[in-house]
Amino acid sequence: EKGGYASFMLKEIAEQPRAVADTLLGRIDGSGALSLDEVRIPPKALREADKVVIVACGTAFHAGLIAKYAIEHWTRIPCEVELASEFRHRDPILDPQTLVIAVSQSGETMDTLMALRHAREQGARVLAICNTNGSTIPRESDAVLYTHAGPEVAVASTKAFLTQLVACYLVALYLAQVRGAKYGDEIRAVVRDLGAIARSVERVLDTMEPVRELARTLAHKNTVLFLGRHVGYPVALEGALKLKELAYMHAEGFAAGELKHGPIALVEDDLPVVVVVPSPRGRSVLHDKMVSNIQEIRARGARTIVIAEEGDDEVVPYADHLILVPATPTLLQPLVTTVPLQVFACELATARGNEVDQPRNLAKSVTVE
Ligand code: F6R
Repeated sequence: EKGGYASFMLKEIAEQPRAVADTLLGRIDGSGALSLDEVRIPPKALREADKVVIVACGTAFHAGLIAKYAIEHWTRIPCEVELASEFRHRDPILDPQTLVIAVSQSGETMDTLMALRHAREQGARVLAICNTNGSTIPRESDAVLYTHAGPEVAVASTKAFLTQLVACYLVALYLAQVRGAKYGDEIRAVVRDLGAIARSVERVLDTMEPVRELARTLAHKNTVLFLGRHVGYPVALEGALKLKELAYMHAEGFAAGELKHGPIALVEDDLPVVVVVPSPRGRSVLHDKMVSNIQEIRARGARTIVIAEEGDDEVVPYADHLILVPATPTLLQPLVTTVPLQVFACELATARGNEVDQPRNLAKSVTVE
């Protein structure tokens, strides 16, 4: 059932264009408006929400971190993201105006379930974003938006992550729509851009051979660092998590602006550093800062692996390895920049002789706290 692929992980990485398209299917009408009837939370309650809190674990938590940028930008509702395992133990401030979003592929993660139970006890409304029909987390939530990734068999999450992102964007846009957000035109444009994402992911997948080759040459390394800014920061965290769980390597993700506050001391000769570069269009300040960061680490000997947008000529002189992705609006960029990191981790793990579908010490769904 691996459909000719060497692992479920490779198959699931390849399925991502379809998974993204399926998660959008039927949720945007002909006029570009969102129709999320399945989100059975009364629009009045969504209009009155004064805070969004996202709870999740692992890769789903990274989707939540990215969702925060979209939700706050498009709706201007304050949004917090918290590791589900930490959430209830700090006595969080919750009330009926709080919208809690629980993100979970399996729908059975005990930490996330306990977090949402706690939220509901405090009167908050809970919306689940989940990939598994009828699982416990959606059953215990007020509403659910299903991701349509299809069954994910490999322990490391790939297609579920991309569809979690799509679902998070849909929820953010829906909240903006219901609340009559001031970004009306921008939102219509984003809806159009979302429609083009599946094709962009497909294009990324078609250009992954150099990434695989690079990964094989790094199989003997001990450490890989990942840097990002803005939505690229959670992408860096996700790239590092994939490498830890699959290749059993020391991998860390940092916000690039934090480099000078400590992590730059780690940089030594030939240390591989993956840099997720923001789009040079739009928020160019972010881009310029990132170019400086790449120069800083390279001057200290780092081997730079740069993920940048097609046409981004400025990064070329500082990239020891350049991975190009199609131009994508900043907030949606994680949908394309994550894919090379998945391929990189999978190939590196395979080169190290690891079993990618069943990494040691890990289970697909963590049903204990
Ligand atoms: C990483 C991974 C885990 C899960 C986490 C949450 O590749 O798969 O970090 O993302 O255990 O699982 P769900 O989404 O099922 O709640």
